[in-house]
Amino acid sequence: MASDLVALTTLLENAGFVAADEEAEELIEAADAAAALLDALVARRLTGEPLAWITGTVSFCGVTIRVAPGVYVPRWQTELLARRAVARLPEHGCAIDLCTGAGAIATTLRAARPGARVVASDLDERAVGCARSNGVEAYAGDLFAPVPPSLAGTVAVVAAVVPYVPTPELGLLQRDTFVFETPLSYDGGPDGMDLLRRVVAESPRFLRPGGALLLELGGEQADALRPDLAAHGFEEVDVIVDEDGDVRGIEATYAP
Ligand SMILES: C[S@@+](CC[C@H](N)C(=O)[O-])C[C@H]1O[C@@H](n2cnc3c(N)ncnc32)[C@H](O)[C@@H]1O
Repeated sequence: MASDLVALTTLLENAGFVAADEEAEELIEAADAAAALLDALVARRLTGEPLAWITGTVSFCGVTIRVAPGVYVPRWQTELLARRAVARLPEHGCAIDLCTGAGAIATTLRAARPGARVVASDLDERAVGCARSNGVEAYAGDLFAPVPPSLAGTVAVVAAVVPYVPTPELGLLQRDTFVFETPLSYDGGPDGMDLLRRVVAESPRFLRPGGALLLELGGEQADALRPDLAAHGFEEVDVIVDEDGDVRGIEATYAP
């Protein structure tokens, strides 16, 4: 199998990988000059296994995040939300990262605000273990359930990338998604908004007045969530749009 950068790039290009050159570099680095290991890593990648599970890391907001096999791989699309979360977190403030996965948002917050307390949760024990390996104070459980009750009313930022794909649209995800990943990371119920609504309803218990709620979502979900946000005391709802004009999330302020 190919063992130099050009040959490996060509192999990956021919197999249909869009960022073949970057992937080739990462695989070669992960193999650390061990040819047999490189062959094994490339063979795994050719099955469609996520690159980050093979190399063990991904870069997110300039921070290296450890990603264990089976754990959702943080996406660049989420960086916008993470940066907004950093901007709303005071130096010694407190933040909660729900559905933390590998802990990408929590780790970004910790790196930018070393004096802050950042707490995270995830239903999946593998994700919690992975987030902890990134240094995150992570708890296993459903949304806010495992968050220390002592944080009630004190939190400056609640950030969450909950599953938000409508169940009927799960089949439209990339072909390989559920060969390797679990619907637990994606399935948001009939309209994709089951967990989004729950986070909006449950956040006021933990947010302090003026605190921020940052949710990743897509398409029409920002407008669909507005009545829930208003009903639970949120104002200044800002829709986060990426450079291509796609809706990526909302930022709202708790103003009871
Ligand atoms: C789309 S992934 C996001 C992971 C991470 N925030 C990121 O951006 O990389 C969604 C995560 O939510 C977790 N999850 C799903 N339902 C949950 C629930 N009810 N409570 C807590 N975590 C949940 C999944 O295990 C998964 O790790």
